[in-house]
Amino acid sequence: MSSLRSLFLQHLAQTSPEPLMLEIEKAEGIYLYATDGKKYIDLISGISVSNIGHTHPAVVEAVKKQADKFMHVMVYGEMIQSPQVKLAQALSATLPEKLNNVYFVNSGSEAIDGAMKLCKRFTGRREIISFYNSYHGSSQGALSLNGNENMKRNFRPLLPGIKHIHFNEVQDLEKISADTAAVFIEPVQGEAGVRVPDSKYMKALEKKCRDKGVLLIADEIQTGFGRTGKFWACEHFNIQPDVLVCAKGMGGGMPLGAFISSRGVMSCLTNNPALGHITTFGGHPVNCAASLATLTYIKESGVMATIQQKEKLFRELLNHKAIKEIRSKGLLMALQLESNSKVKNTIKKALQMGLLTDWFLYSADSIRIAPPLTITEEEIKKTCSILLKSLE
Ligand SMILES: Cc1ncc(COP(=O)(O)O)c(C=O)c1O
Repeated sequence: MSSLRSLFLQHLAQTSPEPLMLEIEKAEGIYLYATDGKKYIDLISGISVSNIGHTHPAVVEAVKKQADKFMHVMVYGEMIQSPQVKLAQALSATLPEKLNNVYFVNSGSEAIDGAMKLCKRFTGRREIISFYNSYHGSSQGALSLNGNENMKRNFRPLLPGIKHIHFNEVQDLEKISADTAAVFIEPVQGEAGVRVPDSKYMKALEKKCRDKGVLLIADEIQTGFGRTGKFWACEHFNIQPDVLVCAKGMGGGMPLGAFISSRGVMSCLTNNPALGHITTFGGHPVNCAASLATLTYIKESGVMATIQQKEKLFRELLNHKAIKEIRSKGLLMALQLESNSKVKNTIKKALQMGLLTDWFLYSADSIRIAPPLTITEEEIKKTCSILLKSLE
């Protein structure tokens, strides 16, 4: 065992029972390079982060340029920092007109927590609704929203006032009432193993929220920044949330999150109390510069126009009797196998052949496919041939 490996086990908090233990030397495009000389295709993008590939030159350049100018200068919201302002403007331009006001944080969970506070403060209501099998993060607030008891049980008490309803079941929308501050939804459930709701359902949810004066919050942390073939997954369903939450792919490999709403809704954080939400590092200028480079690349490179074809190619090539079902939206895909042991076995064999994949938090019998959106058709063919061999 190399000294770095033993030090990793000794000094880093171990939360994974079976850490991958790849010792990374370099990452570029869809590839990870390990110190033992092996090269791996990253089929999961660091869990839906490296949407435009690892160390994209435009992102690296933006990071270097900004680091040369200034890094942290002041806590959030006091000084005019051009990377934040330009990114907020560019994000607003990707969204319906009313979503034009951005609060930057550092991560997905933090953005969810901020959005939870915002909707309570704005509506004066105390109840929040989320979905069974939803995943919104691991902080106390986000964990309270999650719809998986196994991950929560030993961390109680969590936040009160949270109700869960069934995803994609119209009848359950009746539980949304005038007492509800907000409904948090992943437009495509990720950690549940890629569950895509019906458009009709999403429209019914939007209508119910409007009728009851409830804020509709879209958690686009995993689905945003082109992952599903549209810049935001909400676009597939033609719905307009009141608050959109993003992180992960947004930073192009740097840590960044945001909750985005209208100026009207967001302004309630300015009074009673003033500084209704505080962060020291949220919207770090280097990370905002990286994010703007990422957003610009996704918008201008034409990569989004290729995603549907790439999804189709994966679906065509992944024809194997061990695959019971394929669920996907763009390049967020789950291969349903018969068991977790089959999944584990397949992942292990794929890794030996230079392909990194994973399962899902709440869908341990599915294989995760979420490569950088920039993956080429040739690389998809190579990936699928490894996956098919691993399934044998
Ligand atoms: C849909 C969704 N929401 C929230 C989060 C939490 O984000 P973070 O890990 O940055 O706190 C995740 C992370 O996987 C996610 O997939």
